[in-house]
Amino acid sequence: MTPIQPMAGAQARAATAPVRIGVLGCGTVGSEVIRLLGERAEDFAQRSGADLELTGIAVRDLETPRGPHVDPALLTTDARAVATNADIVIELIGGISPARELVLAALATGATVVTGNKALLAAHGPELFDAAAASGADLYYEAAVAGAVPVVYALRESLAGDTVTRVLGIVNGTTNYILDEMATKGLSFDTVLATAQELGFAEADPTADVDGHDAAAKAALLAQLAFHTRVGIDQVSVSGIRNVTAEDIAQAESAGYTLKLLAIAERVGDDAINVRVAPTLVPHTHPLSSVHGAFNAIVVESESAGRLMFYGQGAGGAPTASAVLSDVVAAASHKVRGGNAPRESAYAALRVVGPEETTYAQRVRVRVADEPGVLARVAGSHAEHGVSIQSVGQLADVEGDSVVAIVTHPSRGAALTAVTEELGNEPAVREILSVTPVEA
Ligand code: HSE
Repeated sequence: MTPIQPMAGAQARAATAPVRIGVLGCGTVGSEVIRLLGERAEDFAQRSGADLELTGIAVRDLETPRGPHVDPALLTTDARAVATNADIVIELIGGISPARELVLAALATGATVVTGNKALLAAHGPELFDAAAASGADLYYEAAVAGAVPVVYALRESLAGDTVTRVLGIVNGTTNYILDEMATKGLSFDTVLATAQELGFAEADPTADVDGHDAAAKAALLAQLAFHTRVGIDQVSVSGIRNVTAEDIAQAESAGYTLKLLAIAERVGDDAINVRVAPTLVPHTHPLSSVHGAFNAIVVESESAGRLMFYGQGAGGAPTASAVLSDVVAAASHKVRGGNAPRESAYAALRVVGPEETTYAQRVRVRVADEPGVLARVAGSHAEHGVSIQSVGQLADVEGDSVVAIVTHPSRGAALTAVTEELGNEPAVREILSVTPVEA
């Protein structure tokens, strides 16, 4: 019997139609994706089982100079034509419109869509997932959360046999960079933001980053994947870093904490989850405290695997292109060999509750009158609401007053809010300087 000779990859592929790829948007990420699709064509073909043929690149302006790797003959301003004439459509326009209309048009043709658009998914995820399911199309979005860090794949596929209990992480590089610079150089928020904008690390309009909206969109996506529950961005409680002062950070550092903008999604009891984004104090011993600069890191806690940590570059052309291309290769492989990507999984349909129903610790910094009995009254407010104090530190004396920091044990959010409100009404408390959740 003659043994069957494996065909060389290129010969085998000659019998398979190429997978047609359309790209919407040719900015930093799109341009890098296009470069790598050309340079690594043979590798990608071997991995997916067919040649990947770039058939169109939709841009706003045909005259904008592009790199030598972008074939001008593929450029068009007709984004709809690109979206509806490909097997795989890569959406890298960003924003809601026209990205939403184009993604829906592509899905309606049965094309797989690969997107990095977290804002679109957070605002219109259910509509897009339903459209994909209706036409049997796939929707991939590894690049939408934490750039190169393969956390979407990890939650969607690697941990499919486990039960996730908590996801927490640094998912916005701009704010991590700003907080890190404030901590290490003692600079103000405004100074660091201005420098970050000059260096191109921060956007001219930094709202989405510094007010926590970008992190909230990612938190919603992580929560959906982790807990098999649809989570809209409006169900994520958000506070950003605009009001953080260098003094907050310095005093927290002296007490053994680093301030990080954390996205947290966690189970609350048997039937609910909470999803939130807030500047949070992380003990120096916690792995997230050593995430510096613009890096991202996500810790996933699950029943069987225990604690996992994912770390890497959350933004930038090449890192984001890596995530996009991993989706493209997987999508192309499905096109060639059959099968689908895992579908949206929302079967658990857990309630999404606010922070008042969750349990966490907090640190309150107050300026109080330096008089007998003041600390007893502050402690009494905590006791009255069933909140146990973990530590009290006297940080500084200011013109006859004292700055005191009280760290609680984990307590119900509603009780912590009640304590803070009561401290605000206590005559001996001159000012509440900051109220910050603390990660254990
Ligand atoms: N602006 C984001 C960040 C990257 O700073 O991490 C894109 O979501």
